[in-house]
Amino acid sequence: MKVTVFGSGYVGLVQAAVLAEVGHHVICVDVNEQRVEDLNQGIIPIYEPGLTPIVQNNSQAGRLQFTTDAKLAVEHGEVQFIAVGTPSDSNGAADLQYVLTVAKTIAQYMTGDTVVIDKSTVPVGTADKVRDIIAETLAQREVSHQFDVVSNPEFLKEGAAVADCMRPDRIIVGSYDARPHDIIRELYEPFNRIHEKIIFMDVRSAELTKYAANCMLATKISFMNEMANLAELLGADIEAVRRGIGSDPRIGYHFIYPGCGYGGSCFPKDVQALIQTAETEGYRPEMLYAVENVNKRQKDKLPSLVKQHFGADLSGKVFAVWGLSFKPKTDDIREASSRVLIEQLWAAGAIVQAYDPEAMEEMQRAYGVRNDLNLVGTKEAALKAADALIICTEWQPFKAPDFDLIKTQLKQPVIFDGRNLFEPERMQRRGFTYYGIGRGE
Ligand code: NAD
Ligand code: UGA
Repeated sequence: MKVTVFGSGYVGLVQAAVLAEVGHHVICVDVNEQRVEDLNQGIIPIYEPGLTPIVQNNSQAGRLQFTTDAKLAVEHGEVQFIAVGTPSDSNGAADLQYVLTVAKTIAQYMTGDTVVIDKSTVPVGTADKVRDIIAETLAQREVSHQFDVVSNPEFLKEGAAVADCMRPDRIIVGSYDARPHDIIRELYEPFNRIHEKIIFMDVRSAELTKYAANCMLATKISFMNEMANLAELLGADIEAVRRGIGSDPRIGYHFIYPGCGYGGSCFPKDVQALIQTAETEGYRPEMLYAVENVNKRQKDKLPSLVKQHFGADLSGKVFAVWGLSFKPKTDDIREASSRVLIEQLWAAGAIVQAYDPEAMEEMQRAYGVRNDLNLVGTKEAALKAADALIICTEWQPFKAPDFDLIKTQLKQPVIFDGRNLFEPERMQRRGFTYYGIGRGE
């Protein structure tokens, strides 16, 4: 099939690459000229395991093209994906300007019947707006092409985006009627062979399904962080509790890892956006307020532990920070807990020596060159003459470090572990003062 994808970010680029990989002919269009130029040279703008070879191979095979030419792109596709950003506006609601601009662009250049697929995460009612804009623009052009708007939210996780798109758990398709179902089936047929993954529903339910999924996952995390804080007060170990409750299949082991708070470009934004949607309807979403507040408090956890240990004035102190990305296997530092930590350390006068396997460039871009930020090339270099080690992200290479080396490099053997990588008792035996999350007194 001929497919057009608007947006070459995490969702658009991965979706475009995966659709090309199974044989579709895909044109991916973006307004970011530099990004398009890079992609046409095989330079991938994001770190995502497995993405580079499929972009390069499919570009070479002529099944995947990148352009800034929206007209060319729209004329190509039988289906048009909208996969552009929906960042928070100043009130926390989803800013729909990019989605609605793309809807208008599609309508301006449509040359025949088209299915418009919204993959961006958008509030309930957005498909109606997209449909109205397309209808209006077509009326102004005095053409009467038939079109369908479908809500087809994306559930990929960063760091596993290619695998998630190649083997989706489910494919949610919200439509106004059954007319676009056949074309959607054809599009996703290569991903739907083993068992039926497509779940058809109405557009509003599909739009809400996306927010409900992210908010449910965020709720699990905030709940566990609340339990972790209680465990500390009660002298219990949250890691034992986690294993204890996870073994109940109704609860499950996924997304119950306590830590230094959830980050990323989606959970914080989507919880806020659903709060806004609810409030607009005159409803107070008490659960979502709590999920968000607990997470904000949890991001202060590591800085408070540091200040509890070293005092509020950290001038002259140096901290080694391992992990900057909001989770492993990505270079994305949007809303990362590491940033809340580092900004608070700076505010208290400290110097930060940080290492991350992938996110160093992003960090440099975000903060520029500063005297109190030293981005170093290895995790060992970060330790040199630091007063303590702070772990923000559970990258694999951090899980079995050389503890003797850590002890000799640090000025004091103190570790603040925001991801519970180690056993407190063993750390004590190794001679460390060790702070985890919810590990009892
Ligand atoms: P992103 O910021 O990485 O990429 C968006 C891209 O769209 C940018 O490259 C931007 O230049 C481009 N763009 C903006 N306006 C455009 C236009 N008029 N025409 C063409 N391109 C345009 O965003 P993302 O992370 O891919 O997220 C996109 C959407 O998918 C959001 O709604 C997000 O909530 C949702 N989502 C993201 C993830 C994720 O893990 N990142 C997962 C599921 C859903
Ligand atoms: C999340 C969802 O998992 C995806 O299904 C969804 O498509 C995506 O948001 C989106 O809408 O953009 P992502 O943000 O890439 O994906 O990463 P997650 O693996 O969900 O992690 C989010 C945050 O939660 C990270 O900061 C992670 O450290 C934290 N987390 C996760 C915990 O603190 N504990 C856990 O048990 C799991």
